[in-house]
Amino acid sequence: MAFPESFLEELANRNDIVDVVGGYVNFIKRSGSNQFGLCPFHGERTPSFSVHADKQIYYCFGCHKGGGVINFIMEIENLTFPDAVHFLASRAGMTVPDEGGNDEAIQRRARLLAANKEAARFYHNLLSTPLGHTAVDYINRRGISKEMVKTFGLGAAPDSWTALTDHLTRRGYSAEELLLAGLVRRSSKTGGVYDFFRDRLVFPVIDVRGNVIAFSGRILGDGEPKYLNTSDTPVYNKKRNLFGINLARKSPADHFLLVEGNVDVVSLHQAGFTSAIAPLGTALTTEQAQLLHRYKQEAILAFDADTAGQRATEASIKILEKTGIRVRVLRIPDGKDPDDFLKTRGPGAFQALLDQRETHIEYRLLSLRGAYDLERDPDRVAYLQEAQKLLAGLESDVELEVYGGRVAGQTGVSLESIKTGVKKFRDQKRKQQKRDFEKAGTRPTQAMQPENRALRYENAYSAIAEQGVLRLLLFDPTLYHNTLPLEPADFSAPFLGRAYEIIRGRIREGKENTASTLAPLFSSEEMGQIIHLLNQPENPADTKQALEDYIKKIQAEKRKRDPEANLLEIYKQ
Ligand code: UTP
Ligand code: MN
Repeated sequence: MAFPESFLEELANRNDIVDVVGGYVNFIKRSGSNQFGLCPFHGERTPSFSVHADKQIYYCFGCHKGGGVINFIMEIENLTFPDAVHFLASRAGMTVPDEGGNDEAIQRRARLLAANKEAARFYHNLLSTPLGHTAVDYINRRGISKEMVKTFGLGAAPDSWTALTDHLTRRGYSAEELLLAGLVRRSSKTGGVYDFFRDRLVFPVIDVRGNVIAFSGRILGDGEPKYLNTSDTPVYNKKRNLFGINLARKSPADHFLLVEGNVDVVSLHQAGFTSAIAPLGTALTTEQAQLLHRYKQEAILAFDADTAGQRATEASIKILEKTGIRVRVLRIPDGKDPDDFLKTRGPGAFQALLDQRETHIEYRLLSLRGAYDLERDPDRVAYLQEAQKLLAGLESDVELEVYGGRVAGQTGVSLESIKTGVKKFRDQKRKQQKRDFEKAGTRPTQAMQPENRALRYENAYSAIAEQGVLRLLLFDPTLYHNTLPLEPADFSAPFLGRAYEIIRGRIREGKENTASTLAPLFSSEEMGQIIHLLNQPENPADTKQALEDYIKKIQAEKRKRDPEANLLEIYKQ
C-alpha cells in the first residue's frame, strides 16, 4: 500500500502548502517567507502557527504540531495517511497510482458518499411527484421558497418502508452499505432492512467540501420525534459538522449566525442572512467552534428565547470563547425563534436586532442581573462577586472600564473597589493558568496518545546534541558516512534514535528526506518535533566539526548512563 516516492513528491509540488493551509487558516502576519496565523489545532489568541513557503512545512510554536502538507491534511481533516493522499490528489486533479488506490476504507467511504448523494437526489426528486405532495404542502405552509428548496437540496422521504431501499438496491448498493450509511435500519423481526426516514421533510447535511454526509428528517406537522437524524457513520461525525456550513462559509459576512433549528437556518438564508448555521441537534462542541473559527472572525448566537435557548447560549459562549473567536449574542424578543421572528416582523427588524447585538459580557451581565434583587444587600454582594468574576475574563482595560462602570452604576459601589475585586479574580485565574501550563509542560502531548511518552527527553544535554545530529543530516546528507561512530541505541531519547535510524537508512539508500517523504513515517506530533529541531539555530560555518562535537557529546552522556560502556572505554586505553 506504499505510494511511490516520486508520486508523493509530485503531490507535494502540486499542493503548495501555503495554498492548502490558507484554505483553513487566516494568515495574519508575514515575516520573510513565513506566514503566521491562529493555530487550527489548539485555541489561541495570538498567532503561533507558521507556514514556511520555502521549506513547505508548517509548525505551531504553541502545540508543537508540524509537518508537510500531507500531515496537515491528515490532522485537520482527521484522515489516515492514504486518505489524505487521495484528498490532495483529487484537489490537484492527479490520479493516484494503483498500489495506493485499492485501500478498502477509502473505497468504502467513496461508496457511502455516493449512496448518500443518490439518496439526496431521490428525496429531492420526489418533491415533483405525487408521492411528495404532503411534503410540498408542508414546505409551502412553512413559507419556504422554491429557491431555498433547491439551494439546500431539501427533499421528501415518502411514506413507505422500502422506497429508498428499493431505489438504491437497484443502483447496486448492498444492504450492508445502506446500513453503514445510516440510510436504513435492520428489522429485528424479519432480518431485512427498512428505510430510516419515512414521511418526513428531509434536510441533507453537506460538509465544507460539498459531500452529502447525513440527513435530518422533520415530521410533517406535529408528532414525535420531531426530528430524526443520521447517527455517526464512517463519513459523518455530528460533533464536527454544522447544518448549512457548506453555504454559510461562503457568505460575504465576517460572522456566522448560530441558530438552533434547521428551519431557522433556511428562513434566515431566504431572508438574505446567508451566514446562518445550526449545530445538528446537539449542544455546540469544541470541534464545531474550531471549524467556525477557521472561516470567520465572529460568531453571533441567536438561539431561541426560551430557557433551553438561554442555557445553550451560556454553554456555547464558553466553548466559543476558548477558540478565540469573537462572540456576540442576539436577543430575540417575545420567546420566539428566528424563524417566527422573521415571519412576524420581517428581515428589516431582524437586521435591527443584528445591529444591536451584545458582546457576550453585556449579555452575561444582563442575564446575571436578572437573577438578583439589587435592592437587597445580600443579593447585591452576590451579584458583585459574580460580575467581578465575569469582568476578570476581559482582556482589555477599556472594556473593564466600561462594563465595570456599568456594574458600579447598578450597585452603587465605586468603580475602584470593583476593579480591586476584578484584580483578585484575575490573579487567581493567572495562577491557575500557570499551574495548568506547567503541568502541560512536563507532559508535553500527554493528552494525545500514550506512545508520546517516548517523545519526552530525559537527558536534555544529550537530546540537544541528538537533535543537532538530525538537523545537520537533514540539511546536508553528504555529512553522513558509514564510519560515523553513532548508532540509534546511543540516543538517550527513543524517538530521536528512531528518527536517526530512519533518516540514516534513507541516506544510505540514496533517498531524499523531505517533509512529504518523511510524512508517512512519523505521526504529526513526531513531525512537529522534527520541524522544531530543524528550526533551532545552527552554526553552518563548519558543519563537519559540529557533527563531530554533537556525536562526542552523545557518547559522553551515554557513558554516564551506562557503566558498562565506561569500563570498555577504560580497557581500550
Ligand atoms: P427545534 O424544535 O427548535 O426545531 O429544534 P426547528 O428546526 O426550529 O423546527 P420548527 O421551527 O419547530 O419546525 C432545533 C433543532 O434541534 C434538533 C434539530 O436539529 C432541530 O433543527 N432536534 C429537535 C432534534 O434533533 N430532534 C428533535 O426531536 C428536535
Ligand atoms: Mn425552532
